[in-house]
Amino acid sequence: MSLREAFLSCSTAKSVFRLSAIISHDIILAAELLRKGQLVAIPTETVYGLGANALDVTAAAAIFKAKNRPSFDPLIIHQSSAERLFQYAINIPPAARRLAKHCWPGPLTLVLDKSAAVPDLVTAGLATVAMRVPDHALTQVLLNGLDFPVAAPSANPFGFVSPTTAEHVNDQLGDRIPMILNGGPCSVGLESTIVGFPDGEPVVYRKGGLAIEQIEEILGLPIQVMEHGNSRPAAPGMLSRHYAPGNRIELSQSPITKVEWANYQAAVVFGKGRTTSWTENQVNYFDLSPSSDLAEAANRLFSVLRMLNRGKFPAVLIELVPEEGLGRAINDRLRRAATTE
Ligand code: TXA
Ligand code: MG
Repeated sequence: MSLREAFLSCSTAKSVFRLSAIISHDIILAAELLRKGQLVAIPTETVYGLGANALDVTAAAAIFKAKNRPSFDPLIIHQSSAERLFQYAINIPPAARRLAKHCWPGPLTLVLDKSAAVPDLVTAGLATVAMRVPDHALTQVLLNGLDFPVAAPSANPFGFVSPTTAEHVNDQLGDRIPMILNGGPCSVGLESTIVGFPDGEPVVYRKGGLAIEQIEEILGLPIQVMEHGNSRPAAPGMLSRHYAPGNRIELSQSPITKVEWANYQAAVVFGKGRTTSWTENQVNYFDLSPSSDLAEAANRLFSVLRMLNRGKFPAVLIELVPEEGLGRAINDRLRRAATTE
């Protein structure tokens, strides 16, 4: 047992100190921990993932425990190339191969029929498995050196906003995991777009960091988008209330001009052309992108949602962004943040 493992298993030490994870670029250490069945938070271009050996049931079970995630919510497996991932799938539709060829590495997850090698725990008993090749240099090198895929949900406690920096991960899970591989801030900042093939035809299960328009262009046809409610969503984690920061949040369909402090203490806006945050008439404004750039808005979204501290801002007004490109996924997350059911 290493000194740190001994320390982690010592209940007195745990109760006296608030442990923090090692935050480092050290891929050799990250690989060593993963091979030993430990959890390591890994950077990707979308959000940070909470990784473990997907073929090791005990390691994968530790993900659910650390996240407080219900076991009916399946995980995404990650590897460095389509070839390496596709060995864990069967009956791969041509459209899936086409999307993989054009979009991987990148913010796209494919849900395919699973091979027998993938443990049922990872897929929550489903006959399908979600998979993705992340576009992040450090994680590419890490995955390349492993002879197993890495199962990784977003590295946040269940129901909270996904982390886009190593510090976000450390704030919420640092005392539960040995290491966070630090790859800097995520370049996309929104979770991957998930595409499944329930009847052989492509269907978007979750809007995300790859615009639906781009998928349609690659496939040369319009694609069905599944809208989720609370009952039996096809991507089980996509429950309506999933990003809720805890404040009273209201959405505005039309551009916000003036906000009354007595009604709201903060406002999230888009494309006002000033700066990213300012205070006016006692209202704190956060602009997702002063220059109306949807990629920038996607990139800043989760950091801004994290700043909407419940105590400081009991009521928040949020302006929806244009419903096009990445704006569709941004509005999806904003609607979930505002859902109280
Ligand atoms: O960008 C991302 O996708 C990040 C990074 C780390 O890759 N991961 C991520 O994982 O967002 P997670 O677990 O937070 O969200 C994965 C979603 C969940 O809603 C889960 O229900 C769904 O994918 N999912 C996983 N396997 C599935 C399957 N076989 N069928 C349908 N949905 C599935
Ligand atoms: Mg998640």
